[in-house]
Amino acid sequence: MERHGQKVVLITGCSSGIGLRIAVMLAEDEKQRYHVIATMRDLKRKDNLVKAAGDLYSKTLFVAELDVCSDESVKQCINSIKDRHIDILISNAGIGLVGPVESIPMDEMNNVFETNFYGSVRLIKEVMPDMKNRRAGRIIVISSVMGLQGVAFNEVYAASKFALEGFCEGLAAQLLSFNVTLSMLEPGPVHTEFELKMIQGMKEKEWPSVDPDTVNYFRNFYLPGAVDIFEILGQTPDHIAKRTMSVIEASNPHFHNLTNPLYSPILALKYADETGCLSVQAFYCMLFTLRPLMNVGMPVLKYLTFGFMRKWRISPN
Ligand SMILES: NC(=O)c1ccc[n+]([C@@H]2O[C@H](COP(=O)([O-])OP(=O)(O)OC[C@H]3O[C@@H](n4cnc5c(N)ncnc54)[C@H](OP(=O)(O)O)[C@@H]3O)[C@@H](O)[C@H]2O)c1
Repeated sequence: MERHGQKVVLITGCSSGIGLRIAVMLAEDEKQRYHVIATMRDLKRKDNLVKAAGDLYSKTLFVAELDVCSDESVKQCINSIKDRHIDILISNAGIGLVGPVESIPMDEMNNVFETNFYGSVRLIKEVMPDMKNRRAGRIIVISSVMGLQGVAFNEVYAASKFALEGFCEGLAAQLLSFNVTLSMLEPGPVHTEFELKMIQGMKEKEWPSVDPDTVNYFRNFYLPGAVDIFEILGQTPDHIAKRTMSVIEASNPHFHNLTNPLYSPILALKYADETGCLSVQAFYCMLFTLRPLMNVGMPVLKYLTFGFMRKWRISPN
């Protein structure tokens, strides 16, 4: 297990999607600068990662078990690393949740917070003291554009990422005095299993506890719009992995890192009006009153962004 002179990188949620691509891209580094510990909660799901890593498996890429929802699992994994030494922590594991709030049981909401918010907090808490002691380290958290802007029918997911943004913004300032940097990556839609897991079954689902107007908005306005947005604006996991690499390599990494420039105007709108009315009204119009216009606008946007050249796919590899 070669580690001499290499930076030790620990990544969570590497069984698929963004985590898998970040792990492989770092392991493939030509100068072999990284010793990658790619973790996942269920080692039975390691095949895609091992296949994508090819010859690099057990050379620059190693697989370990880590469930971000379990104190014991996090401790066990970190304790198994030589001297508990981690140079770069990438907190990526996360789950989505979409649907009318009235229909979501509290334990499902808790599960989203337990994974997306407390999962990252648990990990950072375990790794940060050693980084502070060594006066060196880099923490990267995969948040979401929904950690900066709430989106209808994604309220609980957005709340979990907003919580993470707030937690990390406070910590980032404190950690700077220990020479540890903390950066957020805020992707828009990315073609991974994530969208499948979220949207799967939604069309057929019954909503007995939700009023018919909300069900109609969700099923006939939101869902088709979300599918269009994923198709037209979606980035690949590779794109997010490259951006993560550039944050790792930056001498002064930014705190916010929006991966999709098409979302910058939405955030500009939000910060331009401190009452918040502008952005709430804009989202209302986009979802409900301007939906027919969006139906025309989406193909135009697809053309303008060369989306017609992209083949839509769920792409863990
Ligand atoms: N895809 C998007 O559109 C998008 C957009 C913005 C931000 N993000 C964020 O990007 C991150 C990665 O998502 P992705 O798109 O790559 O989706 P993905 O392919 O579904 O990957 C999510 C990963 O998280 C893992 N995970 C879930 N619960 C876990 C737990 N308790 N402990 C450890 N690992 C756990 C999953 O493992 P299993 O295989 O065991 O389920 C999987 O490896 C998430 O934080 C997500 O919020 C995604």
